[in-house]
Amino acid sequence: MNKSEPNYERYVIIGLALTLLVILGFSFYWFGEAARLTHAAEDFAKERVQRGRVIYTEQCVSCHGADGEGGVGTVLNDKNLLKNTLDDILFSVTRSGIPSTQMPAWSVDFGGPLTDEDIKDVVAFIRAWEPNAPEIEPVAFEPDSARGALLFETTCAVCHGEDGLGGDEAPAINDTLRLASLDNNWYRSTIANGRPAKGMPTWGTVLSPNQIEDLIALVDAWREGVTVEAAFSVTELIGSAIFSLEEGDPDSAALHVSRALSVAEGTGAEVLRNAAAQLLDEDDAGALATLTALQEQWPLGDPVAGSEVYSTYCLPCHGAQGEGGIGPAMQPSTYIQETLNAEIVQFILEGRSGTAMASFEGRLTEEEIANVVAFLRGWQP
Ligand code: HEC
Ligand code: HEC
Ligand code: HEC
Repeated sequence: MNKSEPNYERYVIIGLALTLLVILGFSFYWFGEAARLTHAAEDFAKERVQRGRVIYTEQCVSCHGADGEGGVGTVLNDKNLLKNTLDDILFSVTRSGIPSTQMPAWSVDFGGPLTDEDIKDVVAFIRAWEPNAPEIEPVAFEPDSARGALLFETTCAVCHGEDGLGGDEAPAINDTLRLASLDNNWYRSTIANGRPAKGMPTWGTVLSPNQIEDLIALVDAWREGVTVEAAFSVTELIGSAIFSLEEGDPDSAALHVSRALSVAEGTGAEVLRNAAAQLLDEDDAGALATLTALQEQWPLGDPVAGSEVYSTYCLPCHGAQGEGGIGPAMQPSTYIQETLNAEIVQFILEGRSGTAMASFEGRLTEEEIANVVAFLRGWQP
């Protein structure tokens, strides 16, 4: 071996070893850092959910329920909703609210109390339900021939005649031979598209698809030779009976009263039975007085059942003791004192557009609304 040649081999090995050490050191540090970052992110997410829980409890529980099970507001704790709704959507819906419904705008940008960070927190809280969220079956729509008959009487009978037996303006629909030769799809599309050139309006742009399905249920019943009574409301029938009596036609009045009796329940039915008895005794003036008084108080609800409806649907805005909040006070309320029951029921069904008082149509039955009105009467002096 030549002594003048230095032995580099050793340095190379040491160098390599050092490099390896540095790499190893860095990667240990790196793994540690990544883990630290993950933990930090997890802590941050947990804190978000915690903060979101507080906001949810303060602001959303009254309408969406303690566990997102719904109430005045929709169900939020639902697997399908959460699976199909991105955080961005939950975020922007909560920010802006849903116009002309009871879902208020929450963002400070829209006059609400929450910042964007708050809203992200509450969205994180809602999102945390997803793994265990129940699957809620959507409420299936059941077509109803009686509803279809009511729609037909009020919308189609002017041209197609009573019970669809034909009129001056338009042919019969309730025609066994024709019904047997054409299927429901044909009726569906004829009703939806109409024949504008021949005087049959285009109903697809006026009626909802569900209303057309109610009409198809009626067509089905007619095809089977079944007569369907229109589901007239008791109020309308009382009105018709009064009208008949004023016109001096007690027989028609008796018919309207008996139809009303077939749908009326409770105290209202008792009063109707009295009117029917008076008509039978040919006491037309007495029957007219009974029916007029009933019309003023109709519908007669059950205040005890109404108290429950109130707590679930009205309390969030009108207060536990009717002291008011988002909505005006109900105890006392000059509006309730000065308005007929039937008109209040109508008002609650329709709501007042452009205010937080949204329509209750489809969410409460008329009976439930009559009950809550009876309950509100009890709060008046
Ligand atoms: C005064 C009652 C009320 C309050 C309080 C309320 N909501 Fe709502 N919310 C509703 C109603 C009603 C709807 C359904 C609106 C409709 O008919 O589309 C709704 C809908 C929603 C939706 C859309 C759900 C869907 O099915 O698309 C989200 C998300 C939501 N609310 C979140 C919240 C959050 C978060 C809060 C609290 C910060 C809150 N809501 C507070 C009444 C309320
Ligand atoms: C303004 C009058 C008018 C009204 C209201 C009206 N229709 Fe018609 N309809 C007609 C006329 C006219 C025809 C016949 C058109 C033709 O000659 O092709 C017709 C035809 C039809 C037909 C086809 C009948 C057949 O056997 O060929 C159906 C089904 C029908 N209408 C359903 C309805 C329903 C359901 C409604 C209510 C939602 C309704 N129509 C309301 C005028 C009307
Ligand atoms: C999301 C909030 C909200 C809910 C829930 C709500 N209301 Fe209201 N309600 C209001 C507001 C706001 C008004 C005032 C509307 C206006 O400015 O005309 C109002 C008005 C009314 C009025 C008319 C009062 C008057 O003096 O004009 C009645 C009656 C009423 N509500 C009853 C009910 C009943 C009954 C329920 C439950 C079935 C209910 N409300 C649920 C917000 C609400």
